[in-house]
Amino acid sequence: ELHRIPRPPYRVPLAGDVIGSSKDTPVQDSMRLARRLGPIFRRNAFGKEFVLVAGADLAADLADEARFAKHVGLGVANLRQLAGDGLFTAYNHEPNWQLAHDVLAPGFSREAMAGYHTMMLAVAERLTGHWDRAAGAGRAVDVPGDMTKLTLETIARTGFGHDFGSFERSRPHPFVTAMIGTLDYAQRLNAVPAPLAPLLLRRAGRRNAADIGRLHRIVDEVVRIRRADGGGEGDLLDRMLDTAHPDSGERLSPENVRRQVITFLIAGHETTSGALSFALHFLSLNPGVADRARAEVDRVWGGSAAPGYEQVAKLRYVRRVLDESLRLWPTAPAYAREARADTVLAGEHPMRRGAWTMVLTPMLHRDPAVWGPDPERFDPDRFDAPAVRSRPPHTYKPFGTGARACIGRQFALHEATLVLGLLLRRYELRPDPGYRLRVTERLTLMPEGLRLRPERRPAPA
Ligand code: HEM
Repeated sequence: ELHRIPRPPYRVPLAGDVIGSSKDTPVQDSMRLARRLGPIFRRNAFGKEFVLVAGADLAADLADEARFAKHVGLGVANLRQLAGDGLFTAYNHEPNWQLAHDVLAPGFSREAMAGYHTMMLAVAERLTGHWDRAAGAGRAVDVPGDMTKLTLETIARTGFGHDFGSFERSRPHPFVTAMIGTLDYAQRLNAVPAPLAPLLLRRAGRRNAADIGRLHRIVDEVVRIRRADGGGEGDLLDRMLDTAHPDSGERLSPENVRRQVITFLIAGHETTSGALSFALHFLSLNPGVADRARAEVDRVWGGSAAPGYEQVAKLRYVRRVLDESLRLWPTAPAYAREARADTVLAGEHPMRRGAWTMVLTPMLHRDPAVWGPDPERFDPDRFDAPAVRSRPPHTYKPFGTGARACIGRQFALHEATLVLGLLLRRYELRPDPGYRLRVTERLTLMPEGLRLRPERRPAPA
């Protein structure tokens, strides 16, 4: 039945749909194809054929957990070299998924989140210190670079009691450099025929092995320090090392702990950094939205030096700015779903057990049937309560879906709302007039080269 699904018109023998596609921008190439081919289409790379879904009806059907589940494929599968059966890359049937999920989920409860708040605030103050100096000197700031410092320090300190010293460094921490290397490599593996990968990517493969080695050494050191300290304050790392499963009494093995530490250090900062960067980009281009958000921060926080945990949740409009940024540029831009048994997708497309498809989230989030005739327009009011209530379920999926959806969603939203609130309250965000949005892809999305000029504003009365 695959032949009924549209595909690009030109196909090069053996290579597949390589015309108009680049190994550097698979997501944006797929977005272009979706605009041409519609809500479901096929791509082919070197004999590997896969189906992408861009339409809301199809994505909603794929959210049915009784018939579909997460598929570990393409980019995510390529990360198994690094993270094995860690939470993000585990196959559904691997016992360590449920074990780690049950042991770590309480680390994301409301109480746990409230406990991270003070540390998140302390890290954000490192950022504003840095931006104050830039503002004083009239300098522009490197937004993605600074957001990555912030989010890496936040997850490292709250989850692992570890300080990477990101703000004291002139260059990114080696963890970040090695991580970007492996994410980029995992993306590029999709763009070559599998049997030829060892040959075509020989140098890159060696570099990747070195990056993985570097990441292992860094996380082994984080674990070693904790063991030497004889335990921390009950953070994620303590859970990984000490907590037994409430029913089975089972614990994570040392090998699995290493995989979870890597998983959380990467998943816990890279996408949040992108989300904050895109939000700051949109705020700088939409002064009316920024004014409204800033007025909310001044009203809710008043002159209080340090906003409390509860005061962050009250920033409803700032949160909508984030939601809308993640609509247009969901920084984890796709997730894959496989059929649990033979089924028919949306009553039209038969799928065999195990067959899978990728949901292309940026296009799902632009489906005019859901978002209206002008889905490219940045408008946080799309997320006010009546608008959200009037939309069908399963139309907004920046954090994936079902049992394997993002465990860190509340963590990311709290951190990002807090930071946007602090930055809006303290600075006017002037765009660099020459900047045109360029999105880089390394499995995740990031606004490449985004710079802004922060200007201090007077403290609110
Ligand atoms: C899973 C997005 C922040 C940890 C996922 C998935 C998405 C996602 C789409 C599902 C992937 C799939 O189906 O293959 C995001 C975005 C974030 C964010 C957009 C920020 C804006 C975080 C944070 C953490 C985290 C802060 C940890 C502190 C994880 C983990 C999984 C996951 C461990 C795997 C869950 C499982 O399979 O059980 N995330 N995430 N993420 N995320 Fe996030």
